[in-house]
Amino acid sequence: MAIKDKNVFASKIGAILAAAGSAVGLGNVWRFPTETGANGGAAFILIYVLFMLVFGVPIMVTEFAIGRHAQSDVSDSFQKMSGGKRAWRLMGLLPVVSGVLVLSYYSVVAGWTLHYVIEALMNGFAGKESAQYTSDFEAFSSDPVQPIIWTVAIIAMTCSIVALGVQRGIERGAKIMMPMLFVFIIVLVGCSLSLPDADKGLAFLLKPDFSKVTSSVCLSAMGQAFFSLSVGIGCLCTYACYFRKDVDLMKDGLSVASIDTMVALFSGFIIFPAVYSIQGLQPDAGPSLVFITLPNVFQQVFGGMPVVAYIASLVFYLLLVMAALTSSISMLEMAAAYFLKNFKMPRLTATLLVSAVCLVLGSFCSLSFGAWKDVTIFGMGFFDLFDFLVAKLMMPIGGTLMCVFLGWVVDEKVLRAEMTNNGTIKSPLYPVYRFIIRYFAPLCIMLIFANELGLFDFLK
Ligand code: PFF
Repeated sequence: MAIKDKNVFASKIGAILAAAGSAVGLGNVWRFPTETGANGGAAFILIYVLFMLVFGVPIMVTEFAIGRHAQSDVSDSFQKMSGGKRAWRLMGLLPVVSGVLVLSYYSVVAGWTLHYVIEALMNGFAGKESAQYTSDFEAFSSDPVQPIIWTVAIIAMTCSIVALGVQRGIERGAKIMMPMLFVFIIVLVGCSLSLPDADKGLAFLLKPDFSKVTSSVCLSAMGQAFFSLSVGIGCLCTYACYFRKDVDLMKDGLSVASIDTMVALFSGFIIFPAVYSIQGLQPDAGPSLVFITLPNVFQQVFGGMPVVAYIASLVFYLLLVMAALTSSISMLEMAAAYFLKNFKMPRLTATLLVSAVCLVLGSFCSLSFGAWKDVTIFGMGFFDLFDFLVAKLMMPIGGTLMCVFLGWVVDEKVLRAEMTNNGTIKSPLYPVYRFIIRYFAPLCIMLIFANELGLFDFLK
């Protein structure tokens, strides 16, 4: 069975927004501020933006080219384009495993977001003291049952959309939800910047302190760039199967990366000014930043207008759920496409199978915030371990493999044809792009790993 069904993204803008839907998600609004806070602020952001440009965009374009050319799931695409080599087929399994792991812990955070929608709906944020936002979040996230129920809900929503056939849902949903998310984020930036002491938050974001840059800051910035763009994992490869032949891959890659970076930076402009203006909050508070800071901000900024505070929190968490869903759909679609294609499973069976595995692993991640807090592997709980494995190891390794594959294994004519749409468009950046995927990206990524592993030391 072909994974393509009968669908192709109907318009060019639909293709951009669907890929942007995969890229823009909790990674921008939740993970980016967390990582920025933990890694010292502005210097981290600069390195992150640089990595987006030099690794992120080229690898995204590489995934687009592989997917659109091979018209198959990631593992089969590797085999097809390598002239039938099974070793490459096996390499193509890495993104599938990463996809399952990432969906497992991503849906836990998406589940928290869904819970916050209901809280907002019930006006549950009104009239709380600052400290109570923290204690309520901690009590909720460490509960052994509740967060798992919300994780189940998110996986069920994701599963039903993918099982129905994703393309129409994704394209139409992305066209409606992405602009709304953007408008709302801009409004919130305005609100946050008007808070007292907002300038301290701005300084944290804008004044780089390069003395804080270590190898682990570089590794984190690289991980964030990969995670945020959804690259190195095959999701975009699978989506590119549905691209029309006239889509300009390079232009699309740059557009998606620009949208994604803007949303991440704006999220920083919402969160850090707020963190500095509300007593007792720290910029390195970790994954809870969005869930503790934002409800607090809504109440403080719109405190005199309870209806506005109510609407603001509700719409924000609703949009966050939607952003999370457009990303989780792409993860599930990618992993399900593998089973669909390789085991000739019906779409429903493939999505249910992947969802069930993610649910079990997701429960482990959820429990690592409470009942299983002390269960650690390499010093990390399940949630942190999965995040580390996916963002800091598997995605960069997957991205490197894709670069090496398209840069060295596949005939250059195929690559050129994909980048120029069979010679019908100009691709002035093609030589730079090819240099990056053949030499620069694989070498730099390996250097960052070697440095982090202590094999040599160029940053300490
Ligand atoms: N890029 C998504 C975000 O920023 O939330 C997360 C993501 C989506 C990671 C798809 C990996 C993936 F395959």
